[in-house]
Amino acid sequence: MKVAVPKERREGETRVAASPETVKKFVQMGLRVFIESGAGINASFLDETYAEAGAYIAASAQETLSEADVVLKVRPADQSELALMKSGAHLIGMLEPYDDLEGARRYAEAGVDAFCMELVPRITRAQSMDVLSSQSNLAGYRSVIDAAGEFTRAMPMMMTAAGTVPPARVLVMGAGVAGLQAIATAKRLGAIVSATDVRPVAKEQVESLGAKFVTVESEEMAQAETAGGYAKEMSDEYKAAQAQLIAQTLTKQDIVICTALIPGRPAPTLIDDAMVASMRPGSVIVDLAVERGGNCTLSQPGKTIAVNGVKILGHVNVAGRLAVDASALYAKNLYAFLIPHVEESSKQLNIDWDDEIIAATALTRNGQIIHPQFKA
Ligand code: NAI
Repeated sequence: MKVAVPKERREGETRVAASPETVKKFVQMGLRVFIESGAGINASFLDETYAEAGAYIAASAQETLSEADVVLKVRPADQSELALMKSGAHLIGMLEPYDDLEGARRYAEAGVDAFCMELVPRITRAQSMDVLSSQSNLAGYRSVIDAAGEFTRAMPMMMTAAGTVPPARVLVMGAGVAGLQAIATAKRLGAIVSATDVRPVAKEQVESLGAKFVTVESEEMAQAETAGGYAKEMSDEYKAAQAQLIAQTLTKQDIVICTALIPGRPAPTLIDDAMVASMRPGSVIVDLAVERGGNCTLSQPGKTIAVNGVKILGHVNVAGRLAVDASALYAKNLYAFLIPHVEESSKQLNIDWDDEIIAATALTRNGQIIHPQFKA
């Protein structure tokens, strides 16, 4: 069985879908792994290291992809890649089905069976495959490091002979995977941290990290979490009460980390222009939700802007700013996803289509879009 790992073609994508560690494991199982030359360069994985792990280094996308049974990707496959893949190939990656339904149609037309890693269900058995967690955790950490880099003051309190430097006040909006790691990172740097979320279970998690939980107490919160553990969109009344609370809280903050998301929907707007104007000059907002429309009305994808002395960071692909760790963890997620479906005796892929994880992630099969959320 041939496993192909092409270079990521999307601009700004630094990650790669296999690490030398996962290549070694695939090869030990008897699979053939083809890495496109230079695929790991931005994640500091050199061709030589992949070759030492047992991979074949392919000189071109064509050599990498042709006759591949499995194609491992970070981002969706583009037209040029699909044209090189055989009908019946299996494509596994973060395929962004909510944003790119056209992509799903193209996979179906090409006869490629595609699996979306961001749709892996949040069940115990699938934890090792959970790409949203592995990537959001790193993004949450990096968001605080990015904020600290732009902040023109210190994070921890410092008592010196020349005077006392006060600790920074950090507010984290959205206390899911990224938010909880942002809280932990800001605490480690010595900041005074508070956080907000709409899911009631977040309170205990925030407090267990030593941060203060700030939220609108409302009966609606009891229903704010879906069975999958995600947030729902809140009512207009709740949003208005939340906006009032945030407006009061923001004036006292130095750094705000925005992580609030609702799956398959635009990110909720939590900080408007007037709220930014009320913040102290020198404050920093990092909007991790910028790629889904942003939690802050002023953030712009890929840009750092300043409004009345408040810096607003809109980095995209924040996990990719830690390309080594992000690739290594993502590669392990893919390995964990694929391996249960490789037959030990024949070394061939034998997808168990009844498996709960496969049913949740399979986008296309035999020329059709089969995922219930995306088929016409
Ligand atoms: P996410 O990335 O979809 O959203 C981030 C956070 O924003 C969530 O905590 C959400 O409640 C919050 N949010 C949404 N709208 C908001 C608003 N209007 N105001 C304030 N906050 C808002 O969620 P993520 O980080 O992927 O995790 C969701 C949950 O799933 C978490 O409870 C997490 O602990 C849980 N989880 C469970 C796993 C498992 O059981 N295997 C694995 C990973 C996460």
